[in-house]
Amino acid sequence: MIVECPANTRLQEYLLKNDIHILTPCGGRGNCAKCKVRILKGKAKINTMDQIWFSQKELDEGYRLGCQVFAKEPLTIEIYEK
Ligand code: FES
Repeated sequence: MIVECPANTRLQEYLLKNDIHILTPCGGRGNCAKCKVRILKGKAKINTMDQIWFSQKELDEGYRLGCQVFAKEPLTIEIYEK
């Protein structure tokens, strides 16, 4: 599923508000990577937890931990619903 996350928004909050659910077994602490998403358009910061879970190639392809994504600008994101 593709979502358009508006600027200045935490992805997880946006998804919950819109009744869209992704896997978050670790509760959004960055410990499971089950919340994987892919940024298709826009730039999302890479944090330390992203670097632990994803290879450089995956990061370059836009993969991020969905629980950690904060959209500073509008983002087009592929999510994997549970
Ligand atoms: S919910 Fe576990 S890493 Fe995101």
